[in-house]
This record gives sequence, C-alpha cells and structure tokens, in this order.
Amino acid sequence: MVASLPKIRTVRALRARVKAWRDDSETIALVPTMGALHQGHLSLVDIANKKADRTIVTIFVNPAQFAPNEDFSSYPRDEKRDNAALSERGTDLVFSPNHAEIYPPDFSTSVSVGGLSEGLCGASRPHFFGGVATVVTKLLLQALPDIAVFGEKDYQQQLIIRRLVRDLNIPVKIVTGPIIREADGLAMSSRNAYLSAKDRAAAPRLYQTLRDISAKLASGKTTGQVLPRAKRQLKAAGFEIDYLEVMDPDNLIPIKGRITGKARLFAAATLGATRLIDNLAVPQRRRAR
Ligand code: PAF
Repeated sequence: MVASLPKIRTVRALRARVKAWRDDSETIALVPTMGALHQGHLSLVDIANKKADRTIVTIFVNPAQFAPNEDFSSYPRDEKRDNAALSERGTDLVFSPNHAEIYPPDFSTSVSVGGLSEGLCGASRPHFFGGVATVVTKLLLQALPDIAVFGEKDYQQQLIIRRLVRDLNIPVKIVTGPIIREADGLAMSSRNAYLSAKDRAAAPRLYQTLRDISAKLASGKTTGQVLPRAKRQLKAAGFEIDYLEVMDPDNLIPIKGRITGKARLFAAATLGATRLIDNLAVPQRRRAR
C-alpha cells in the first residue's frame, strides 16, 4: 500500500509548512498542476525533487482558465490516483486548495501578460492566459518556492510565466521540463483521455507532421513550401487546425520564409472534440564552410 501524502487546503497551513522547511534551511520546489496526473507531470516532479530539498505539488482545476463553453466541469479529476502517483514519486506535500481559498468572494484582481499572450492559444482562447497568469502568480506568492517547474508542452504558457515572474519581481526560478511522449509520439496530456479509439489512433499524426516539417525547414525549404501542404494533410487525416506556425522561441514572433536562426514549430488542432497542442524545435542549419 502506498503511504498517504500530507495534503493541505489552506494558504495559512501551506505557509506554516514552508516556514518550517525554510527554518531548517531547506530549498523548495513547486509543481503547479490541475491534477489528472500523467508521466509528463511526474517527470516535472522528478526535476523538482532533484533541484530542491522539498517538493510541493499543487492540484487546482482553475475555473478562470476555462471559457464557459469549455470542459471545466468534465475536466478529469482523480484525487486518489494522483495521490498514489505522487506518493510513489516522493512528493513532500500536496497543496489542493478549495475554490474560495484561491478566489474569495469579490475576488477582482487579474494578471495579464501583454504581447506573448495574444497569439497561438491566446488568439483562440482569449480568456486562457489571463486565468493561468493570475492563478500561477497566486500560487507562487502563496508558497514562495525557490523554483517552480512547468512543462514544455505548454511552451507559450511557460514563456508567459517567465515573463510575469520577471516583470513582477517574483523571487523564483522558472524551470522547464521537456515534453514527455507516448511510445507513438503523442505528447502526453490529461485531455488525451477524451480521445475516442479512432481519434487516439490518428492523434500521433500531429507530432509526425511537426517532425516532417521540422526536417524540411532544416534542410532549407521555406515555410511557404512546407506549411500549406502539411495543413492539407492534417485536414485530410481528420484534424481541424487552429494554428500551425513557425515562431521565434524567445518572443513568439512569426517566422516566414527560410529559417536562418532559432525557430520552433507550434501546432494546435482538434480531433473530434479534443483539442491537442504540440511544439517542436527546428534544428538550426549548419553553415556551409
Ligand atoms: O498547465 C497547467 O496544468 C495549468 O495551466 C497550471 C499551470 C497548473 C495553471 O492552472
């Protein structure tokens, strides 16, 4: 049997625990999640465990980052399973706040990160990054960890969090863990559980397409030669594309034409009712001598 993890639901109790660790000169890592944990989340816990003496995992399905027509009420929740997975991985504490602890009555403050939040997922989910930025700011200020770990699958999100931490002088180091994939390449996500058997079989096509585009761009083809065709192929495979773009990974400015410097591919597409996102670096071309 797996030991039950200490679970805390109030900021007051969280701060008392953090203070006790600080008094013992221990360093603290925070891994914010919405639960429904998979190997991708657990890889972030592994990073946190390596980098700090104590690891806190937060589990809070944040209503502010869901639009009214999105899946807040059906978002997968399984406290027992999450607890067992975290116990096995060696987490020190789970912070699982009640709704009112995060959003007390008359809560009226929001954090918005201009520029970076506007493109990609921000264009089709305009509420999303404001909700993420607000809750992450709160979680960071509540726990005041030394480091906080986020996944590269949500590349735009981790960039926005880095920016808000810098802009608001929050004293925490943001660490990003690599995308963890299923054996067939599909990026792990709690929402993969929504895929029908047919859509699950088609889903790895998104990553295969990114790899294919990335190889072509790295070999000197232009975005115009590669992206429209890749979009047509994805559509034919049943994907409804939200975006498929090449951007500068530091500032999310779109790149068109031949790739001459750092570049990253970003994709979001719906299969059935499930929205998938993925991203991949484009290797830089070696200069001919
Ligand atoms: O990536 C997520 O699971 C969420 O957006 C986060 C960072 C936990 C904020 O709710």
